[in-house]
Amino acid sequence: MKCVLLILAALGLSLAEESSTYDHFRLPTALRPQKYDVRILTQLENPDDFRFNGTVKIQIEVLKNTHNITLHSKDLTINDTEITLRQIGGEGKPENCITSTERNPIHDFYILNTCEELLAGQVYELSLRFSAQLQDQLSGYYRSSYEDSVANETRWISVTQFEPSSARLAFPCFDEPGYKASFAITLGYHQKYTGLSNMPVRETRPHESIPEYVWTAFEESVPMSTYLVAYSVNDFSHKPSTLPNGTLFRTWARPNAIDQCDYAAELGPKVLQYYEQLFGTKFPLPKVDQIAVPDFSAGAMENWGLVTYAEVTLLYSPEYSSQVAKHGTANIVAHELAHQWFGNLVTMEWWTDLWLNEGFATYVAGLCVEDIHPEWRTLQFETMSNLLTIFRTDSLESSHPISRPIEMTSQTSESFDTISYQKGSSVIRMMHLFLGEEAFRTGLKSYLERYAYKNAEQDNLWESLTQAAHKAGSMPTDYDIKTIMDSWTLQTGYPVINVTRNYTARTAKLSQERYLLNTDISRTHKGCWWVPLSYTSQAEKDFNNTAPKEWMECTETGESVPKTIQDLPGPDQWVIFNNQLSAPYKVNYDAQNWKLLIETLNSEEYQSIHVVNRAQLIDDVLYFAWTGEQDYEIALQVISYLQRERELLPWKSAFENLSFLTGILRQTPNYKFYKSFIRKLITPIYEHMHGINDTDASVQQQDKIRLKGMVAQWACSYEVSDCVTRAVSYFRSWRSEANPDEINPVPLAVRDNVYCTSIEHGSVEDWDFLWTRYQKANVATEKQTILDSLACSQKVWVQQRYLERIFDAKGEIRKQDSLSVFQSIASTQAGFPLAKKYLMDNVDSISKFYHPQSESMAELLLPLSELIFTRKDYNEFKNFIADSKEQLKDIDQAINQSLETMLINVQWKEQNYERFTEAIKKLL
Ligand code: BES
Ligand code: ZN
Repeated sequence: MKCVLLILAALGLSLAEESSTYDHFRLPTALRPQKYDVRILTQLENPDDFRFNGTVKIQIEVLKNTHNITLHSKDLTINDTEITLRQIGGEGKPENCITSTERNPIHDFYILNTCEELLAGQVYELSLRFSAQLQDQLSGYYRSSYEDSVANETRWISVTQFEPSSARLAFPCFDEPGYKASFAITLGYHQKYTGLSNMPVRETRPHESIPEYVWTAFEESVPMSTYLVAYSVNDFSHKPSTLPNGTLFRTWARPNAIDQCDYAAELGPKVLQYYEQLFGTKFPLPKVDQIAVPDFSAGAMENWGLVTYAEVTLLYSPEYSSQVAKHGTANIVAHELAHQWFGNLVTMEWWTDLWLNEGFATYVAGLCVEDIHPEWRTLQFETMSNLLTIFRTDSLESSHPISRPIEMTSQTSESFDTISYQKGSSVIRMMHLFLGEEAFRTGLKSYLERYAYKNAEQDNLWESLTQAAHKAGSMPTDYDIKTIMDSWTLQTGYPVINVTRNYTARTAKLSQERYLLNTDISRTHKGCWWVPLSYTSQAEKDFNNTAPKEWMECTETGESVPKTIQDLPGPDQWVIFNNQLSAPYKVNYDAQNWKLLIETLNSEEYQSIHVVNRAQLIDDVLYFAWTGEQDYEIALQVISYLQRERELLPWKSAFENLSFLTGILRQTPNYKFYKSFIRKLITPIYEHMHGINDTDASVQQQDKIRLKGMVAQWACSYEVSDCVTRAVSYFRSWRSEANPDEINPVPLAVRDNVYCTSIEHGSVEDWDFLWTRYQKANVATEKQTILDSLACSQKVWVQQRYLERIFDAKGEIRKQDSLSVFQSIASTQAGFPLAKKYLMDNVDSISKFYHPQSESMAELLLPLSELIFTRKDYNEFKNFIADSKEQLKDIDQAINQSLETMLINVQWKEQNYERFTEAIKKLL
C-alpha cells in the first residue's frame, strides 16, 4: 500500500484530497454493514495502563459503486498497515486493498480509499486492528471501580455506554441507528473475570499466547443498531431469576451488593412478561442480564440483552432505600425493558425520532408499574409529574418540537431531554386515551410486527395507528392520526384554551393560542393544535370519561377553527375542561367560572372535583397569575383550599409552582409575608400526617409516603411546628449510636429531610459525621441521599469546601454524582452565590473535568438561572456565558433556556412582586 501512495504522490494525485471534500455529518449511503465480528482484549490488571485492543471484521454490502469506505472512529489508534479488504462471494478477484486513509475529526469519520472500486451488489469484508485507552469518561468502552472492603483493595471492571454516538470510541463502525447488523462479539480477559455481552456465551477457550487469559465468544446477535451493543468484563456476582417462558434472567452487582439485587431480580421477569402481553410479541433474545455499574453517567441503558444501570437505580435495600427509591427501581427496569421492543426491535431511523424510543418507554413504563404494583397508585403520579415538567419547559420560547432535526452529534445528546421523555410520553398518553385500548394495542402490535429488526419514523407509527383506529371505529373516518399528532410533535409548545361561557345561552366559546411564560413575546401565529376536548360540569362530574366529546381543529394553513360548545349548564355551575388532564394543554376560564370553582374548592365539596383536575387548577391558575392573565388574588384563593387537601397530586402541583416563587422571594425583603402564608397553608396537612414522626409502619401507601416526605421537607424549611426539633433529635440519636453504620433510627420516609435539616441547623461536626457515613455506606441510594443532604449547610466555608470536593478527579465523589451535588449546593440559600461564583471562576477546569461530555455543563447552568431575577445579575450571567463560548460549546439549547428562565424571573420581579405581596397580606 505504501508503494501505491508513493506513486500517487509522485503523480501529484491525491485520492485523499478528492474524498476529503465529503464533509456531511451523515455517513454516505453507498454501503451497508451486514455483520460485525468484534474481538476485544481487555487488560484490567495494571492500574497504570488500562488498555484494550481488538480486531473488527465487517461484512459490507455495496449499494452504489464507490471508491471509499467511510466509517466512524474516535480516539482509536488504527494500524493502517494491517487493514485488509476482500470481496466475498461473487465474481472477479477477491483481493482488494486500501490506498490511503484519512480522518475527519469534526464528524469522527475514518475514511479508507480503496485500490479497486467497490461494486454495487457485492459484499466485501473489511478487517481492521485498533487499540485505545480504557479511560474513565463514562462513555465508549470505559473502566469503573469499587472498593473491596474485605481485601481493602480497589477492583476494576470494564463496561460500555454507546448511546447515542459512542460505539465509535470502542471499535470502528457505521455508528448510526439506521445501520442495523448482526454482531458476533468475542472478549479476551484474565480468567478470574466474567465476560458479558448482549448474547449468551457460545464458547470459552484459553488465549493462544497470554497465560491465564481466555477468549469468550458470544452467539451472533439478531440485527441491531450499534448504539445497543454492549459488553463488560467484571468480577461481579449474580442472582438468577427465571421466567416461565424460559428467558434466562440474571442480575449482576459487585459481590458486596448482591443482596441488594433481590427486588430487581424478582421484578425483571414480571416486566418482561407484561410487555410480551402488551405488545403481543415474544421477547426475542434467549437471555437478559441486568448489571449495576458503580460508575455510570445515565440512570440506565437498554442495551439489548445486557441492560446497564447505575447502582442507585437498580439496587434496592429494604433497610436503607426508601419506598420512593423502590418505585424508582421498578420504573427504570420497566423503562429499559420497554425499549427491548420500542427502540431495540424497532428503532428510529434517525435521532430526529428519538422521542419514539424515549417517549414510549416512559409512557409504557408507567402502565407496567401500575400493573405490577397497583397498590402503589403511581400511574397518576407519573402522569402528573410529566405534565408539570413539560408545562414549564415547553412554555419557553427556546423549547423545541418533540421531533427535531438533528444535524450535529452534539444535538443528539441535547435531545435526551424532558421534551423527548415527558412531552413524548404525554402525547402518547393523549393518543391512548382518545384512541381507546383496542385501537392503541392493535396499532402498536402491527407497527412492531411490520418494522421488527428494522427502522421506522413517526409517520410509520401514525399509519399503523390510523388503520387500527378506523378499524376499531374509535376515531372519525375523516380524521387521521398524522394530522392530529403532527400538530403536537412538529410544533414547539402547547396551547392554552380560553373558555368564555355565555351563561344565558349555555354555550362556551373556545379559542387557543400557544402558552408562553415570556410576556415580551406575542402569542399570535405561534401555532395551532388538534385538541381533544373532554369536559364535565358540576352536575355531571363525569371526570372518568377521558374520551373527547369534541375536537378543536386546525385548517390546512394552520389556523385554529373557532369552536362553540353547546348544552352547558346554567350560571350556578362550573365546567372543567380536560378531564384528568387527558391532553397536555392549559385552560383559562372567564371570571364567573373561576368564582364557581373557587367556591367548590373552598368547601366540603372540594373532592367532587377529580384529584388530577384539582392539581390542574392549581397549576393553571398559578401560571396565569405569573403571566398576568389572572390576578394573584384569584390564584391565591384557589390555592388556599389546600388547607383542606390531603391528597398527593394537588400538593405536588402546588409545591412545584411555589418553589419557583420561593427561589426569588427568599432573596427579597417581603419574604416574611410569604413565609407566613406558606406556614398557614401547610400546617394542617403537617399535623394531619403526624409531622415527621416515625410512621413507616403505619403509612404503607406509596402516595402517602411520598406526600409525607414532601410535606416534611417544606415544613422543616419553613420551620413549621416541631419539624426542625424532631428532625434534629432523630439525627442526634443516630449520632449517639455506637455503630451508626449498622443502626440508623431515622425513618426511611423522611431520612433525606432529617439529614438535610440537621445539616442546615447543625455544626461542622454533624457535617463531618455525615460525610464519614457517606464514605462507609455500602448502599448507593443511601450514599446519594447523604451527598445531597451535605449540601444543606448554611456555613459558607463548609459549602465552599464541599464545592471543591466535587471536581476533584481523585477525590471521593464520583464523577457520576458531581452534577447532582453541584445542583444541590446551588439550590440552597448559602450555596447559590458560592456555586455561581465557583462556576464563573473555574469554568475552564470544570469543562475539562467533563470533557468530552460537554452536555454536562448544561446541568450546571440551569439550576443557577432559576434563582437569578435582577437585571444586573441577568446581565452578569449573560456576559459570563458569552465570554465562555469555548467552555460552554455544544449546549446552545441549555444556554437559551437559561437565559430565558432568568428573563422570566426578571419580568416577574418587575411586574408582580408588589402585587403578589399585597395579595398575600390579605390572606394572613
Ligand atoms: N436510552 C436511555 C439512556 C441514555 C440516556 C443514553 C441519555 C444516552 C443519553 C435510557 O433508556 C434512559 O432513558 N434512561 C433514563 C432513565 C429513565 C427511567 C428515564 C436515564 O438514564 O435517566
Ligand atoms: Zn430510555
